[in-house]
Amino acid sequence: MPLPDALARIDWIIASCRLLAATMAEFQRERPFQGLAIGTAIHLEPKTAALLLTLAAGGARVVSTGNLNSTQPETVARLRAHGIAVIGERTTETDAHERFLDAIIAEEPDLLLDNGGDLFARVAARGYAKLRGGTEETTTGRARLKPLRDKIKVPVLVINDSPIKQFAENRHAVGQSLFESYMRFTNRSSNGKRVTVFGYGACGRGVAACFRNAFSAVSVVDVDPVTTLEAHLDGFSTPLRETAIRSADLLVTVTGAKHVLTAADLPLIKNGAILMNGGHLPHEIDVAGLRADPSVIGADLYPSEGIETLRLADGRAIHILGDGHMANLAGPRPLGNSVESMDLGFTLQARCLERVARGGLGQEHCVVPVPRDIDAMVASAYLAMNR
Ligand SMILES: NC(=O)c1ccc[n+]([C@@H]2O[C@H](COP(=O)([O-])OP(=O)(O)OC[C@H]3O[C@@H](n4cnc5c(N)ncnc54)[C@H](O)[C@@H]3O)[C@@H](O)[C@H]2O)c1
Repeated sequence: MPLPDALARIDWIIASCRLLAATMAEFQRERPFQGLAIGTAIHLEPKTAALLLTLAAGGARVVSTGNLNSTQPETVARLRAHGIAVIGERTTETDAHERFLDAIIAEEPDLLLDNGGDLFARVAARGYAKLRGGTEETTTGRARLKPLRDKIKVPVLVINDSPIKQFAENRHAVGQSLFESYMRFTNRSSNGKRVTVFGYGACGRGVAACFRNAFSAVSVVDVDPVTTLEAHLDGFSTPLRETAIRSADLLVTVTGAKHVLTAADLPLIKNGAILMNGGHLPHEIDVAGLRADPSVIGADLYPSEGIETLRLADGRAIHILGDGHMANLAGPRPLGNSVESMDLGFTLQARCLERVARGGLGQEHCVVPVPRDIDAMVASAYLAMNR
């Protein structure tokens, strides 16, 4: 009998996380987390379900909550059905979310899996004796926790700083999923289109490569001349910002910076151009500023498509995808990054938590990258599965 859509998707994703499945089988035998509690605060969606079930298979009592606004009820139901405690539910209220985080810490888990530094920031303010350490997923969390090292005082391994996360997710997966997002939102072709990518970091390199591979003419704009030189030597055109904006059919921001495209750019943007953001926060394109500009005389909304068309007094139309939110998690049927990239990243998570649980890391490992041997182990396992 067919499963309801959301449940079928969870099953498909869990079945597709092959590295985590292999790790789970090993954890079931070796029980590295036997008798330990793991507190987590990370998006509760199907790929994270695969990770949390893997940790539980290793003997952990997992107590989890989500991040702001991203908790998926079907995933919560599935986790609870497998005995994983989930605190709270989907919320956009910061106060409610803070209470859920406090409730995780009140359980005094032996290990913490953090995403953005919310849990370890609490530890810095009020630690507890039985905490062995844990992991942090993101760049944002690393920046937040680094100054707090002297207060946290336990090993915290930063997954984002693994080269695997950098090239598997930020470069390849973000490139592919933003390309997929453009097609998914617009149903338009990439062939022959002029695409300007703002930011040539790990993500921008992937985006530029994916559009080039899909027969677009890609230009790159980066505020750093060294990075711009790299884009030039990689064969992309690197015109001045104004020239790049004037020519673009699609403008993609992936910088991590605020207000990369603003109302001041409106006179430059070509009729029919599409604006899409891939950066973490919805402030790279100043959507509110664009809407409020006096040259904008109206807007057409396509709500189920996640598209807004701004109409300008001079007759031009400019399209914005997903309200300027990270496009690969916005719009119709957002899927995020590929299962394989998340399987790699979450296997790093599982292995790093195992390393902390087994001891042997000290205070000097507070907010440091994934140990090299774990990177090598995960890379070898992935290669072995794909030869
Ligand atoms: N969509 C996703 O699934 C996803 C996944 C991972 C990361 N991200 C986000 O993507 C963003 C970029 O990540 P990254 O790893 O590539 O970062 P990065 O630091 O490696 O690269 C950012 C680049 O943008 C450039 N830049 C900064 N301000 C600019 C501006 N105003 N105009 C042009 N270029 C500018 C920088 O010089 C740098 O080269 C971040 O917000 C990150 O959180 C998104």
